[in-house]
Amino acid sequence: MSARQANVAGSNWRAMTVDDLASVDVIAARVHPSYPEDHAVFAERLRLHATGCRVLMTGGEIAGYVISHPWHLGEPPALNALLGGLPEAAATYYVHDLALLPDARGSGAASWIVAQLVRHARDLNLPSLSLVAVNGSTPFWTKQGFAAMAAENCDSKLASYGADAHLMRRLLS
Ligand SMILES: CC(C)(COP(=O)(O)OP(=O)(O)OC[C@H]1O[C@@H](n2cnc3c(N)ncnc32)[C@H](O)[C@@H]1OP(=O)(O)O)[C@@H](O)C(=O)NCCC(=O)NCCS
Repeated sequence: MSARQANVAGSNWRAMTVDDLASVDVIAARVHPSYPEDHAVFAERLRLHATGCRVLMTGGEIAGYVISHPWHLGEPPALNALLGGLPEAAATYYVHDLALLPDARGSGAASWIVAQLVRHARDLNLPSLSLVAVNGSTPFWTKQGFAAMAAENCDSKLASYGADAHLMRRLLS
């Protein structure tokens, strides 16, 4: 087993709970200072689709999180906006955020959880995953099989994520 694989095995993603939200808030503020979102936004995602919300444990501490849920294709929620509910007929599996503290990066834990999200999206019979790539993360998502998609009719919502935001999709065959 390589050192990288050992690190991945040592990392531990587990289901997020309401009690984890304070730590998620702290990590979000540190990792995404330019994309502030209210506690209520994360709490609502967790309530609406707990299966898509997980935290990364390293050394007994929360070192990252992922928040994701079924959604409409090509209609990313605006930054810091409540959803109100999930669509009855979702068209994509939307990755709202994947964020790791700097010390937790580079172990493959992010790739590992993306693979789990792909599996979950397939289980839900959804034909794609999609997201808004920010923070210069487009090369990471490209490595995960995502490609830019046209952002028709969602320019204002995309703009809420800043000028370097890109709508991306990974088709599932
Ligand atoms: C994006 C993020 C989750 C990736 O985490 P990570 O721990 O570096 O990811 P992994 O270790 O699983 O790396 C997977 C691969 O992507 C590559 N990679 C990761 N970030 C990259 C980047 N910014 N540019 C290019 N390649 C990148 C890694 O080198 C690795 O390549 P390899 O498989 O050939 O070795 C992490 O950097 C992060 O939390 N960033 C801040 C928050 C953020 O921007 N999230 C995305 C919001 S849309």
